[in-house]
Amino acid sequence: MFLIKPVIPKTFRDRVIAPSLLAADFSCIEEEVSRAIHSGADWMHLDVMDGHFVDNISFGPAVVQTVHESNDIYLDVHLMISRPDHYLQRFIAAGSDMISVHIEAQHDVAETLRRIREGGCEAGLALNPGTPLSAVEPYLDQIDLLLCMTVVPGFGGQAFMPEVLEKITAAKLLRDSKGLSFHIEVDGGIDVASAARCYTAGANVMVAGSSTFRAPDMAVAIAEIRNA
Ligand code: DX5
Ligand code: ZN
Repeated sequence: MFLIKPVIPKTFRDRVIAPSLLAADFSCIEEEVSRAIHSGADWMHLDVMDGHFVDNISFGPAVVQTVHESNDIYLDVHLMISRPDHYLQRFIAAGSDMISVHIEAQHDVAETLRRIREGGCEAGLALNPGTPLSAVEPYLDQIDLLLCMTVVPGFGGQAFMPEVLEKITAAKLLRDSKGLSFHIEVDGGIDVASAARCYTAGANVMVAGSSTFRAPDMAVAIAEIRNA
């Protein structure tokens, strides 16, 4: 019997902890997601990689559907794929709650964001460490989440890139000055120390793979990141 955690909508003022499934034991995904829920996870971050946009291949809609059908937790789907527009409908149908697409991918960004919301999901826009905030500025009023990569995407277990902190602060200032309300999510190398710096900079959603799923005690790790 799984603990059915009510999926409570979060605002950008809430601290949200989203463990990344990429760091979980893929031989027992259902149990791993349940473990994360029991350990206090708010969202489950699902890293989809196509081996083209990033130099790695992870999983597709079938895994998103498996997680959706076996556990009740908000699914934060991160599409690190070159053609998110081409695959979008399959990720919507699989049960995604949030779908984030990369500004650097090859698609009509505004159209993709519009289709994500039209499909009943929340829309996220992701940018790599080397991409300036100006690249996403035209879309900030069309998103529910801005995903600031704090590592070069493709693999878990990489070192946090502190040079992204000023971009996070700039995004927060831009959001607040325009009266917008998107979450600011950080993703890559997030642990207690880097989470504290990211909260201070203005982020509220912490994606953490290695530091949660591979911690001696996942509940302690999530609580420490939440209280960083
Ligand atoms: C990297 C992914 C991240 C990664 C996080 O491309 O987008 O979500 O899995 O893993 P850690 O927390 O181990 O850096
Ligand atoms: Zn991710």
